[in-house]
Formats: sequence, C-alpha cells, structure tokens
Amino acid sequence: MRIYSLNQFLSIGLLLVLFLVIPTESVKSYLFKKCDESSFCHRNRFFANSIKSLGDSNYKPIYKIDPDSFDIDIIRSSFKGDIIKTLNDGQTEVVLPFEVNILKDNNIRLRIDELNRINGKIQVDNNRLTKRRFNEAYKYAFKDNGNVELLDKDVELKFEKFDDRLELTYGKNLENCLKIFYYPFKLVTYLDDKEVAVINDRNFLNVEHWRQRQENDTLNLSPEETDFNLFHDSFKDSKNDKLPFGPESIGLDVSLLQIDTVFGLAEHSSMNLQLKDTSETDPYRLFNVDIFEYETESQFPMYGSIPFIMGVREDYSVGVFWVNGADTWVDVNKIYDGDDVNEQRQQQQQQVLSSKKEKKTSTHWMSENGIIDLVIMVGKTPSEVNSKYGLVTGFTKLPALFSLGYHQCRWNYNDEEDVLNVHQNFDIYNISYDTIWLDVEYTDSKRYFTWKDQLFSDPIGMVNTLDETGRNLVVIIDPHIKADYFLSEEIEKRGIGIANSDNEKCYHGHCWPGESVWIDTFNPKAREYWITLFKNSTTGNNFIGSASNIHIWNDMSEPSIFNGPETSAPKDLVHYGGWEHRSIHNIYGLTFHEATYEALQLRFANENKRPFILTRSFYSGSQRTVAMWTGDNRSKWEFLKLSIPMNLNQGIVNFPFSGSDVGGFFGNPSKDLLTRWYQTGIFYPFFRAHAHIDSRRREPWLIGEPYTSIIRDLIDLRYKLLPVLYTAFYENSINGLPIMKPVFYEHPENPETYSIDDEFFLSDSGLLAKPIVEENCVQTDIYFPDDEIYYNFFDYSDHIQDGPKRYTIDKVSLETLPLFIKGGNILTTKERHRRSTRLMKYDPYTLTVALDKENNFAKGKLYIDDGETFNHESSNDYLIAQFEYSNNQLKSSIFTKDNSNQPLVQSLNTIKIEKIKIIGSKLKYKSKKAKVSQDGKEWEVDLIDNSDHYVVRNPGVVVGKQWIITPVV
Ligand code: NOJ
Repeated sequence: MRIYSLNQFLSIGLLLVLFLVIPTESVKSYLFKKCDESSFCHRNRFFANSIKSLGDSNYKPIYKIDPDSFDIDIIRSSFKGDIIKTLNDGQTEVVLPFEVNILKDNNIRLRIDELNRINGKIQVDNNRLTKRRFNEAYKYAFKDNGNVELLDKDVELKFEKFDDRLELTYGKNLENCLKIFYYPFKLVTYLDDKEVAVINDRNFLNVEHWRQRQENDTLNLSPEETDFNLFHDSFKDSKNDKLPFGPESIGLDVSLLQIDTVFGLAEHSSMNLQLKDTSETDPYRLFNVDIFEYETESQFPMYGSIPFIMGVREDYSVGVFWVNGADTWVDVNKIYDGDDVNEQRQQQQQQVLSSKKEKKTSTHWMSENGIIDLVIMVGKTPSEVNSKYGLVTGFTKLPALFSLGYHQCRWNYNDEEDVLNVHQNFDIYNISYDTIWLDVEYTDSKRYFTWKDQLFSDPIGMVNTLDETGRNLVVIIDPHIKADYFLSEEIEKRGIGIANSDNEKCYHGHCWPGESVWIDTFNPKAREYWITLFKNSTTGNNFIGSASNIHIWNDMSEPSIFNGPETSAPKDLVHYGGWEHRSIHNIYGLTFHEATYEALQLRFANENKRPFILTRSFYSGSQRTVAMWTGDNRSKWEFLKLSIPMNLNQGIVNFPFSGSDVGGFFGNPSKDLLTRWYQTGIFYPFFRAHAHIDSRRREPWLIGEPYTSIIRDLIDLRYKLLPVLYTAFYENSINGLPIMKPVFYEHPENPETYSIDDEFFLSDSGLLAKPIVEENCVQTDIYFPDDEIYYNFFDYSDHIQDGPKRYTIDKVSLETLPLFIKGGNILTTKERHRRSTRLMKYDPYTLTVALDKENNFAKGKLYIDDGETFNHESSNDYLIAQFEYSNNQLKSSIFTKDNSNQPLVQSLNTIKIEKIKIIGSKLKYKSKKAKVSQDGKEWEVDLIDNSDHYVVRNPGVVVGKQWIITPVV
C-alpha cells in the first residue's frame, strides 16, 4: 500500500477539492485576474480612456522633456535627459531620467526611470528590498548578459536641436531618422522619410511615481487618474500582497503607422495568428502561469511571455520589444482615419476600412513595475525585423540533431521494463524515434535527483541500452523542491531559495511533491549549487551517473504553485538582489532553464556535447538555449488546429524551437485525430507525443492498421526531411528566420497572406504544407501566394501555377497530406529508413530539383555539421553546400571556413549523393545521358526519363565536394 505523508495528503486533498468543485472542461478563469481586477491594469486603462474621451484638444499632457537637461554622447550614441511629470497641483514635479540609444543595425532603445528611486529617496518598510525600480530585465533578455551592441562607429549619426525637438539622422546612408519632441513628450521614427512608429503617440505615458502610503485626498492625482487599489490588492489570494512600494506601474503607447496587421505577444491561444483589436475585450496579458486546461481563443496569460509585437505592411515591418519581466497587459487598437474600431465593426467593414487612407495600430503596454525599457526595430521585411530582434536578444543555438527526431513521452512510463518495452516496440514496428521521456513519477515521491528505486533499480543500465541504437532519455526536473530531503535542506541552509517577504527564510508552498521550496536561480550561488547536482562525479547526488544521452525537461517553472495567488508565487516574495518577485515574475523560468543549461553544458564538457532542455515557461532570450512546448492542450480537433498558429507565432517572436503535445495532453484522441496530429506534428520544430497520466496508452503501434503504417510513414518523412530542417535551424541561428515560416514572410507585399494561419513554409526551403486539421475532411484547399509553379511533394503530379490563388484538393483521404514544393527550389533529403538520427549520420543524400515555372532555374542550401558537438563553433567543423540549377546545368558549390582537415568536413568527402531527381512541368531532355565532373575528372551517367521527372541514380558525386552535372547535348 502506498503511504502518504501529511503534506502529500494535504496537497492531494487540495487537488481533489479543485477537481470536484470545478467543472473540468474549461480553464479555471476565475483563478486569474481580469484587467478590472488587476489594480494597475485598471488604472492604466482608466488613464488612457480618460485621455481618449477628453480628446486631443482638451487634454493637457502632464509629461514633458526639459530641453536643458540634454546630455548627448555621440560615441555611445546616447541621448540622456529628464522627463518632467507635473502633478495635479500644477507645481509638484517628478523627475524621470530617460536615455535613448541607437543600437547596432539602427535599433532604437528608450529607457525611462524615476530619480527618487535611483537616489533611494523613498521609504520602504522592508529593508531587504532594493529601492530602485527593477532595471535588469535586459540582462536576461539580451544576449551576452545585456551587453548591447551600439551603433557601429562607421555608421553615420547626426543630430540637430530645434526649439521643440531634437532630430537624429543615422544609418549607412542616413536613411533613418528619429525626432524627440519635448512637449508633449514623443519619439517619432522614420524610414526613408516616412513616419513609421510614434512612441507616446496618444499620451498614454504613465509612470506611477513613488509616494508615501496616504489618504486619497492627499494623493495629488490628476482627473484622468483613479485611486483604484493603489495600496492594496483586493483579488482573492492576492489580498495578502503587501505592495511595499504602493502603486509603481508604468504604461506607454506605441503607434505603428499605416499598419493594421500585428503579430506576436506569445504566448496566447488563438486560432488566428494576427492579434485582435482589444477595445471590446481584456488586453492581452503576459504573466507566466500554469493555465490548466486552456481554451482555444483567449487573451488569457499562458506559460511564457515574449513582450514583442511585429507590425507588417507591404513595404516595411516594425518590431516593438517591451523589455519588462513584470505582470504586463497590452491593448491593441486598430485606428482608421482617427477612429478606434471595435472588432465587430472591423470585420463588417474590413474592405472599407483597409482602403481608408489613414490607419494605425496603437499598442498600449502596461506593466506592474520596473523601468520603461523599449526597443524599436524597423525593417523592410518581417525577416529583417527578426534578424534585428536577434541582434539584441540572440539567436537559437543549433540544437543537437537528435532533438529534431521524434520524441515519445507520456505521464508516465512506469518503470524500467515499461521504458525498454516501448523502446523495443519502436524497432519491432520499424518506427524511428530518438528519445523516450520520463515524467515526474520516476522520482522517489517527486524528490528530484532521486529515482523510485523499486521501479528503476538500474537506470544507468537502462540508458545504456537506449544508447546502443542512438536513443536518448529525457527526465523531468522541476524547480519546486520537496521540503523534506537533502536538497531542500541545502537550499534552506545556503539561503538560495525564494524567500518570504517578512523574513529571510525560504517561502513554502505546494506543488506536485506537496510542501516545497523553490530554488532562486537569480542567485549566482543557487546556480553554482544547481550545477553540482548534475555533475557525473561522486557528489552524492550522482543520479544520472556519467551517461551522456540523458537530457532534461524543466516544467512548472512559471512558477506553478498550487496554493499561490493565480496559481503562482505571491508577488511580494523576495529574490536575490533584494528584488520582489513582482519585478521578475516572467523571467524566473528563463533563469531556471538557463541554470539547467549551464549545468548540462558543464556535465557534457568532456564529451563536448550539446545539451537539450525543454521548458514550458519562457521569456525573451529563452530561444538561445532551450526548446518550448505549448503546454497542456487537449485531444480535440480544435487544439490540433490551434497548434499551427501558436507554433507559427513562436517563429515570429524568434523562439521557433517549439511544438505541441502530439495527440493532445488531456483526453483520448480518436484514431483519425491522432493520425492527423502526426501529420501536423512532423512539421513542429520540436516533435513530441505526450499524454496525461489518465489518458489511454497511444504509442503508434497500439492504434492498429492502417493508422500505424500511416504514422510510420509520417515519422519517416520527418526523418527524411531532417537535412532540410537542420538547415532551417542553421538559418535561424544566424538570422532569426522562422522555421515554420508564416506565408506572409515569403510575400509581405501580398496582404492576402496576412490572414493565412493554417499553412506555412518550412524556412526558405520552398516546402509549403497545409496539414489537414478537420475531422472527416474530404476536400480542402491551399493558398499559393505567388505565380510560381508548385509541385505536389509526393508524386510531382500537380503543376499549379498562375497564382496567387486558392487551389482545391479533392479526394482527401486520411493519407492525404497537402505538401508542395515551390518551383525554383532544391531539397536535400536522406531517404533510408533508420532507427534514429545517430544511425543516419553517414547516409547518402538525395536531391530533388524542382524547377521554376520557366523550367530553367532552382537553388538550394544544405548545412551540415556533426549534429552533436560544439565543433562547428570552436573549429568551424561545418560545411555549406549550395546547389544551383541554371542553363541546363546542376552545380554544387561548397562553402567552408578554412577547415578541410576537420573530422566532419573530411568525412563528407565520402558521403554520396545517391539520387538526383529533376522535376519540371515541360522539361524534356533530348539526351539519355548526363556528364558529371568532380575533382577534375569527368564521366557519364544515365538520365532516366520517368515521364513526370528525370532521375540520375548514383551520379558518383559526394556532398563534401563541388561538382557539375550537365545533360549531354
Ligand atoms: C504539467 C505539464 O504541462 C505536463 O506536460 C506534465 O506531464 C505534468 N506537468 C506532470 O509533470
């Protein structure tokens, strides 16, 4: 019999109560604040609404720049000064120092702080708290711990002072301009003489300055302000929040001009990729929470937050990055010819509205505290904005290749026998997979870094067996640490846990293990200690031996606290550095997974292996080190559909290593749904099947024929496409290009593409997919965004042209997967079935040349490294092959970086291209032979006419060398 401790008993009781009292079919919305229940959201919206109702002419703005305060430093491309906020008495002035920087690649950064808080001229009851406003979000979000690169020295920068403004012009050809207006305070950015974005366009700037806890009548509030909950919180479990600084929120609006299409603000669940107008709803909320059983359409907060919006129009795109890790709400308002438009009107009048001359999207950002820190990026295209955002926050590191294979997970694989059985079945059923996962039940009563010994008596033997065929194990490690064993004792003893507000002791709350403490990974000492736990030494916590095929899953790090306010941590808890949890809430998950990453990196230092970590909670910058998934979805068709826009949005916000639980987490998918989910899942950058503990087993062989075979073929397709996918990751790692790429990235000049959120390209490969996500589908259609030719990927049968247009696909069966290659592209695949990615390493390649509509051009790129080590970074051990077909000739050019003696690059001199297929709608070669040249030698091969395409088998060329193939004329 299982024996429960009192704590376990209490937390199980708590869960039972939650299950019984609450219907299980929907999100527990009453647990989370609405804007009107969130004091600062309410106040900032009230402020904005009052200004709107007064109208521009009647409103007297209360913020202005003091032009005498300017301090200009051209070398640091920095412009400092003071913004003065005048209070209602017309006399009291609050000084808000600001700084504008022009960063590398013309990104603009604005920061606004509060002088009294900088100088510490405030009184706070709790002397453990730092008096400043939190100004370090950038250290976590930006790459290199916040070391931002400023404008290059050789880029021109000029400034001119006028009576009402300061003007800066900058850029290679002085093509950018920024005007800083003094009163009312505004920043206007220009691109090629066009106004593109205005900061504080609508005067919603609001910095709630520090003031003594006091009676309402002495608050000196202006008429557009409200005293709603200034010094207390009245929401459910948040009532105990001590709010030691009183009201300290910040708000600011940024208008994107001539734009009414905006994306971003991950993570939210919405069937539409585009953000909606929020005039009639709550704003979007960014506040990392364990959003149990979320819905398919809502502005509710979710597990992760990326405060980044991208506005797109035909000739330019703009990114706004709000660098703040506190609870944040964002209103999105579309405004046409000066009028706010609610969503209903917008839909009814879409046509009329878009044709109107003046349009803009106003984004209103509201955070509970911290400084205003904001970066604006302007580019000609959405991809350019991604690349600029990546310059600030860093790009995704190339993941270990195995992590792009198929992952098999469920809550839980029960014991070693179970794990090895599942493992063997993959081979018995001839299905490729790379990784099997263990959820929380592998531990001794949810004590991380331990095993449930009776069930896992030889974990190392188990992982060694997996390793024989190149398979890996991922185990879960969460940040809540059960309050009864060495780990929590160490955390308490070392003072490295998240602390209570009224004493320095660790905060205790409830999560899976029952009573727990939370490691404070903001504390360098906590990270140092965390690292020791993963060491493969004899520290006593050596729970994964020296195996190097074990990787980590970090879950519940929002942090999820079952008995905490809004299922998370009380906001007045205290972190390292004297910062309240309120200031860093959305960043906590990032510090936790970065600590784990560092730990694994050190653990694998000798083997020089890339760690793999999956997180549920994230923040801007998370993309640098980990993958994410979209949390607890459901086994329902609408969640399959939802997974496409959610994963596409992850690409738009530069965190593309994403996926959704294949099959759905809660519930039991029908056979059709499960099969269709694999059809979509093979395109998720992170491809993992996962299921709730109460769901029925659904490993691919259990579902039976014909489903198992369909799924096997789909997984095979994923493995075949790995060279394309890995090259996509490479592109992303250098320029931020999404991996699942929304169609509008291919054609931002075609506004019809802005509302396509059910199909996507795979990076720049030319592959266009529109997985079927409807039940009983017999017919579907796909939008081709240009007049290029598109070939059916599987049989080259359809030659669709004369777009942009929708094309109907009839006779849809469960096997049908609408997947097309756009003419003009060359795909590289590995076609042999293997058990795992490691076993594919030396397999030959196949090239598919899909000619453009004129039948005379195609190009493709292939990036290869060892997929395992950091040698591509440390010794340039990688290769890029570029293929080009033109003038009836196929050519491979090799780009390497002085690295021909590196082991991987050398091995590529023997890896063959085993097949070349050439597809063209009207392609007719007169010859049956082709001439091949490589290394100064020439030979002839057969050019086989397969009626709809030509094939060259075994041309004798290798992937690591340059070669040319020409049909003999
Ligand atoms: C919540 C996660 O979202 C889910 O995937 C996991 O199975 C459970 N925690 C148990 O660890």
